Amino acid sequence: DKGGWPSFMAKEVSEEPEAVANTLRGRMRDGQVVIPELDGLDGLFAGITRIIVIACGTAAYAGMVGKYALEQWTRVPVDVELAHEFRYRDPVIGADTLVVSISQSGETMDTLMAVKYARERGAKTLSICNTQGATIPRESDAIVYTHAGPEVAVASTKAFVAQITALYLLALHIGRVRGSLSPTEAAQQVLELEAIPDKITRILHLEQARIEQFAAWMADTRSVLFLGRHVGYPIALEGALKLKEISYIHAEGFAAGELKHGPIALIEPGQPVFVIVPSPRESALLHSKVVSNIQEIRARGARVIAVAEEGDAAVLPFADEVLRIPLAGPLFEPLLAVVPLHIFAMGLATAKGLDVDQPRNLAKSVTVE
Ligand code: F6R
Repeated sequence: DKGGWPSFMAKEVSEEPEAVANTLRGRMRDGQVVIPELDGLDGLFAGITRIIVIACGTAAYAGMVGKYALEQWTRVPVDVELAHEFRYRDPVIGADTLVVSISQSGETMDTLMAVKYARERGAKTLSICNTQGATIPRESDAIVYTHAGPEVAVASTKAFVAQITALYLLALHIGRVRGSLSPTEAAQQVLELEAIPDKITRILHLEQARIEQFAAWMADTRSVLFLGRHVGYPIALEGALKLKEISYIHAEGFAAGELKHGPIALIEPGQPVFVIVPSPRESALLHSKVVSNIQEIRARGARVIAVAEEGDAAVLPFADEVLRIPLAGPLFEPLLAVVPLHIFAMGLATAKGLDVDQPRNLAKSVTVE
């Protein structure tokens, strides 16, 4: 039931605040993270020397975002790998490895096979999954469910923000179990997480209509580039994937720092480029680097669409369009910056008259390898 929305995707984007809120619910007590499903499983986290996150598509981008938080709060090195690449290269894993899989459906065959492989090699496995009782969580030593609710549209939206939320909860939990994070530091991050749902709602209220209009106006575009740095990089990849998936427009995401190593050759007059701009308050250095990337592409005629924090005036002279997100700590910006990109992809596909829920050639859950 679309509940009055024109598509399941529109409904699911509108549910992004609840997806985060419901994934947090029941997992915080007195300012600390408490994950009941992980009760008595501290042993999974005690002796590990590395974490490998495996997933496909959008879930893998959530994993890339999660890496920053996992490394910062647990000080355990983290690799993020596409599940279908992971097990064909004889990876170095064993009892000291925690393999965290991420899957909305819990049935993605590539991810399932990678989890089984990791288990056979003696690794510890933890599943982040949105579907109760699905195969991947059943094959794992531990489960942290995302509570995004059923996702019907083929393109993943609310599950993505829920996956990042679950990874952050997990990172805080592991950080506390291993003692790499103080209760005060953990409590600060919990406050940031709790504030996210209202901030997403604010984007939907203030920016959705304007972004949809803007997307409709761009409906004839043939190619769109997305640039991001640090946690903005996986968001650029996600923005590009969503756009190609449902609007059939060529789209590519890049790490902004890669520009001069190749992609800047693609910039010609009129080329639309989305740039995820880090907060100037939280990371002045990253912010100034991204602003100079914007200047470089603008000088070559790019049409710059900046996704930037409210009040960031430094981007105004160089951006043709600014999509605003509320203020948040640096690790939390991805949960906000992705929302305008989901709205944009949906708005553009809708303007082209496409079925946003059922893009051609794609299935909701990929149960073949
Ligand atoms: C993109 C998308 C896919 C899935 C991928 C993994 O919008 O939906 O890239 O994210 O197929 O699916 P799950 O999470 O079910 O394992």
